[in-house]
Amino acid sequence: MHDLKKYIEENQDRFLEELFELIRIPSVSSKEDHKEHMYAAAKWVKEKLLTDGADHAEVMETEGHPVVYGEKILDASLPTVMIYGHYDVQPAEPFDLWKSPPFEPEVRDGKIYARGANDDKGQMFMHFKAFEYMLKTNQLPCNVKFMIEGEEEIGSPSLENFCKAHKEKLSADVILVSDTSMLSPDTPSITTGLRGLAYMEVEVTGPSHDLHSGLYGGAVDNPLNVLCEMIAQLRDENNHITIPGFYDDVEELSKEEREEMARAPFNLEAFKKGINLKKEAGEKGYSTMERTGIRPSLDVNGIWGGYTEPGAKTILPSKASAKISMRLVPHQESKKIEQLFKKYFESIAPESVSVKVEFLHGGEGYVSPTDTIAYQAASKAFETTYGIKPIPVRSGGSIPIISLFEKVLGLKSILMGFGLDSDAIHSPNENYSLEQFRKGIETIPYFYKYFSEMQK
Ligand code: BES
Ligand code: MN
Ligand code: MN
Repeated sequence: MHDLKKYIEENQDRFLEELFELIRIPSVSSKEDHKEHMYAAAKWVKEKLLTDGADHAEVMETEGHPVVYGEKILDASLPTVMIYGHYDVQPAEPFDLWKSPPFEPEVRDGKIYARGANDDKGQMFMHFKAFEYMLKTNQLPCNVKFMIEGEEEIGSPSLENFCKAHKEKLSADVILVSDTSMLSPDTPSITTGLRGLAYMEVEVTGPSHDLHSGLYGGAVDNPLNVLCEMIAQLRDENNHITIPGFYDDVEELSKEEREEMARAPFNLEAFKKGINLKKEAGEKGYSTMERTGIRPSLDVNGIWGGYTEPGAKTILPSKASAKISMRLVPHQESKKIEQLFKKYFESIAPESVSVKVEFLHGGEGYVSPTDTIAYQAASKAFETTYGIKPIPVRSGGSIPIISLFEKVLGLKSILMGFGLDSDAIHSPNENYSLEQFRKGIETIPYFYKYFSEMQK
């Protein structure tokens, strides 16, 4: 593949023009009124797969946002790699914190700034261009299938049924995904673990309506105070989650495994500096890498109630709410955690209030073995383009559908991500470096090559 780097350089401007068309479609999956954008993005993905060389591509209906399926079948006897990615993005709010509009991509200092620049439009699109290159230069050594969904950012609610309904069509040897990050631009890594998720919404109700805080304050439990006190009881002084049974299924890693993990280059000072943080925090007895990689966590994502407009209003609110999510580690089951959370949260509520606990979405974690052909092929691919062996790393993020792929389709996934933790995904000014974008397109073809060779 001697001409690969040159191909990328010569075509980079066109690649970006194409990618920017997709980024301009605000395919925010969580917004009810964005249906038309979801279809527009799906149609764009389908058309692009066809132009890039798929024999067949289609927009397929699901119970929710459509899935785009595409394929290039060279020969039924060859191995098949399925590319998974998502065309949906997170909401871009708050808009005023963006230096350039989120859906109007802009290149500054060698980085693309836009919602979806990395997660996952930019990363997914590297696969389209690697595929285009392989076909144009007649080097594709295997069959390729694409499954690009539109509900990843809302927990892929329709994809399990979709996979069950189309098992045959989705048959493959491995799933290849670029939707995670690398340790640093010069330290390639392969994500070998993802955390699961249980996302809850709670509501605490006290009096029937907002009260005058002078007439009632001191004599009536304030739901906002109560909610804060209840949240405070979810973790102890060691940042250990207090929900009974919460840790029952958490796998304790051996001393050797933890030592192995500690060898990955991680710079705590750089970690803090990157987010302007005074001091790190977390569960006692674990390192920062372990706290996100192998330990569960619990966070309030949002909390509201009472009066939040400018100026003062003296009330004692009737209701208070919060969104609380728990990141889970492999073997913890999101449905079981939901029940444990609900039971405990209800049990700590004072008699003065009523609480509602709702499960918004969730999914299971994932661990990928490193002794498979697919892992070895990915490792060799990185080694070819970076000159060093990639490090296996457990990420704190979640892609719940990955464990379902294993359960429903019986397929392992290889998480070959090229994002950087500094790319501000889900945040204002999300960005993706052109260097990472090019390196991804350069590395992917070698995965195809080595994976196919090793299958023989
Ligand atoms: N691509 C991310 C997950 C990710 C990013 C994993 C970086 C590892 C490194 C994905 O799009 C995502 O944001 N997932 C959600 C889960 C979903 C159920 C909302 C997450 O992790 O919050
Ligand atoms: Mn993603
Ligand atoms: Mn995401």
